[in-house]
Amino acid sequence: MKTEMNEAVKFIEGKLNSNPQTGLILGSGLGVLAEEIEDAVIIPYTEIPGFPSSTVAGHKGQLVAGTLEGRAVIAMQGRFHFYEGYDLKLVTLPVRVMKALGVEDLIVTNAAGGINESFEPGNLMLIEDHINNFGTSPLIGPNSEEDGPRFPDMSEAYCRERIALAEETAKEAGISVRKGVYVGNTGPAYETPAEVKMLRTLGGDAVGMSTVPEVIVARHCGLKVLGISCISNMAAGILDQPLHHEEVIETTEKVKADFLSLVKKIVARL
Ligand code: HPA
Repeated sequence: MKTEMNEAVKFIEGKLNSNPQTGLILGSGLGVLAEEIEDAVIIPYTEIPGFPSSTVAGHKGQLVAGTLEGRAVIAMQGRFHFYEGYDLKLVTLPVRVMKALGVEDLIVTNAAGGINESFEPGNLMLIEDHINNFGTSPLIGPNSEEDGPRFPDMSEAYCRERIALAEETAKEAGISVRKGVYVGNTGPAYETPAEVKMLRTLGGDAVGMSTVPEVIVARHCGLKVLGISCISNMAAGILDQPLHHEEVIETTEKVKADFLSLVKKIVARL
């Protein structure tokens, strides 16, 4: 993975005009934020050595680097998922690449199913903590201390200061936000109602198929993390209706304006 990373970093550095400070990972239906980036350099994943190509509907598959609210950013418009068959080292490669490019903080976003029954589709949830339910970790295997510690601390995976900043920003902008625990599952099948009940008992507020591996790697390499989930649907069994990927995309369409405005205002205050 080291060789892949060095090649990817060299290739991307050759295309950029400046070093990005903030990394953004944009989830299902949330990639529009990248369209707000000024002086954008767009690099399709297919061109980057060592990068897989993203395949999910609602995910574009490119890096967009430039300026957002005066801050140098690099965004992933579309991410890699474990359920696509990629090893977690590959899923999280872009996070290591961002770190090598100079990124210091990361904003991760996703679409997620609401487990907390007080949530409603269309809510935005600041991630306070997560539960790794992938049954594995991107850090499995030999560790290079250069990349990060063998046993990284995860007691503050999501930066408390950043959560407070996001809450304050949302309040000032009149955007309502919830807070909660994100459970990362492998997917690609949505959960059964019994699994959702179990996840609620375990302390989960929202469930999705991403984010956890990326955040583990981000913390391993010392990035500050802010996580935002868009509650695109209620998780299975909470409402008496089946789940569709189309619903996920439709709901994210509806909260897009609030999501865009909130993330931009947060970036302006970093
Ligand atoms: N479950 C898992 N992942 C998801 C969901 C869900 O209900 N909604 C969006 N991503």
